[in-house]
Amino acid sequence: MAGLIPQDFIDDLIARADIVEVVGRRAQLKKAGREFKACCPFHDEKTPSFTVSPGKGFYHCFGCGAHGTAIGFLMEFDHLSFVEAIESLAGSMGVEVPRNESDQPARRYDELFSLMDTVARHWQSCLKDTPQAVEYLQNRGVDGSTAKRFGIGYAPDGWSNVLDKFGKSEEATERLLATGLIIRKDNGKHYDRFRDRLMFPIRDSRGRTIGFGGRTMGDGEPKYLNSPETVLFHKGRELYGLYEARQALRHIERLVVVEGYMDAVALARNGIDFAVATLGTATTSEHLNRLFRLTENAYFAFDGDRAGSKAAWRALENALPQVREGRQIRFVFLPDGHDPDSFVNENGADAFVKLMDAGLPLSEFLIQELSSQVDMKTIDGRARLAELARPLVQQLPVGVYRELLIEGLAEAVGLTAAKLEKMLAAGREAGDRSKYDSSRRLPTRRQPSASGGPSVVRRAITLLLNNPSAGQKLDIEKLAGVQRAGVDLFSALIETVQSEPNITTAGLLERWRHDEKGRHLGKLAALDMPMDEEFDAEAELNECLQQLAVAGRKERIEFLIEKQRVTGLSDDEKSELVQRQ
Ligand code: UTP
Ligand code: MN
Repeated sequence: MAGLIPQDFIDDLIARADIVEVVGRRAQLKKAGREFKACCPFHDEKTPSFTVSPGKGFYHCFGCGAHGTAIGFLMEFDHLSFVEAIESLAGSMGVEVPRNESDQPARRYDELFSLMDTVARHWQSCLKDTPQAVEYLQNRGVDGSTAKRFGIGYAPDGWSNVLDKFGKSEEATERLLATGLIIRKDNGKHYDRFRDRLMFPIRDSRGRTIGFGGRTMGDGEPKYLNSPETVLFHKGRELYGLYEARQALRHIERLVVVEGYMDAVALARNGIDFAVATLGTATTSEHLNRLFRLTENAYFAFDGDRAGSKAAWRALENALPQVREGRQIRFVFLPDGHDPDSFVNENGADAFVKLMDAGLPLSEFLIQELSSQVDMKTIDGRARLAELARPLVQQLPVGVYRELLIEGLAEAVGLTAAKLEKMLAAGREAGDRSKYDSSRRLPTRRQPSASGGPSVVRRAITLLLNNPSAGQKLDIEKLAGVQRAGVDLFSALIETVQSEPNITTAGLLERWRHDEKGRHLGKLAALDMPMDEEFDAEAELNECLQQLAVAGRKERIEFLIEKQRVTGLSDDEKSELVQRQ
């Protein structure tokens, strides 16, 4: 197998490639100022709107929107794969493409996956030999075929079962450590992490075991012991039962998110194959991304108690930015004292599905929760509801869903939708002006904007992407803790230009080629093609950074205050608020 092409080779290649030559060999280019123009080779046109910028190493067509680097151009024009395009470009420059011949990291990972798999199978066979573990499962309504489907096993009691069986060499012991199956003591000795527990393997989307949850069968603490975060296992990302659901179903119509391993297993046992569990964490946006890649219909089922409704609210907060037309998000509440496991075992699958169908749509849950926080009989109370709704509504993408939610809210507060929208928007604009002051202080000559100016983050990213050398002295520390969407990408870009002072626009684009977060960078690089001379990118960038830092601080305080009112704060958040104020 050919190894990976080293990133620094790609960086270097893209920095040295002459995009004018690459394109010029395939299209008739004419010089126009600092750029070159041509009739677009990707669509039919009579007047040239295809521009090549040698400084940025980037081309862009104002007609059809095609854009990219020299590598991208070769991929599009010569119909090459990414690797082929690199080879072609390197070939034309007379250099050979080096390969990372050592496939070490890949092999190491393979070994870890295979170890996890072996241990999982070993524990499954231990389960068969342990009557009291089988009995425990039976008492909880789990039959043999369900146990098998989820690969449930049993880790026998003892401090060194796994260690003795699978840790015979130093390397093997290192692998056990790396997967979290054993723990190292201060004196350098090791012992098994999982002892006398029922074991639930956690699998990734390809069915490989990446971690375990182990349940005590008695009253031991903790009730569930989980694998630590390892190179294979990232808790906030995984959904227990997702692999099994995909195996069981050809088409995933809907998914229901539950809180516990046993909830997912019990539902599956009862024929509900579309349940997945978060692993003792809140529902993260990564979870949601995963869900929505598979289905448009997501349900969240929570226990009927106070903790359940708090968890539901947190899921709602995280879900807001993901709301789209066509997506259905419902919140399902179980009767007090029940979790999905106990409910489905007592009442059967049909009753559970009924409960799901009766779940509250996100908009209704939001309105209901907020209404319960205020006195809806008074005008003040209703105005307060609009206030509480504002930060939430603002997280919804603009679109039909947002309109519908505003309509629902308007009805609840007894206003017309138009009026409420105005109230929400008024607050936003006032906030915007004081927070960013973007319309007045920043020159608008470059990107005249239709809708009140691009966000500061977007502007900052665009500036940096188009002027990488202007980012050398930016103080990245200022962005610490700023939560806004895109700030992580901005920070990563700053880090890259500071560690690679010669990187070009094209180089940055190639760095982010395979990264979901960089999806829009190409468009941003195109935004700004014509540059004028006196433009001071560095000063502008500093200004953006400053605004972000200030706005980020304010927003965080506002968010915490709002949250304090609505759901209360955790201890950490409380002390954070005190510190920030
Ligand atoms: P619950 O306490 O609700 O347990 O924790 P459960 O799922 O109903 O478990 P059973 O029915 O008593 O067996 C929900 C989830 O929180 C995580 C686990 O993922 C669990 O499934 N959790 C809970 C832990 O990781 N550790 C714990 O000690 C407890
Ligand atoms: Mn339970």
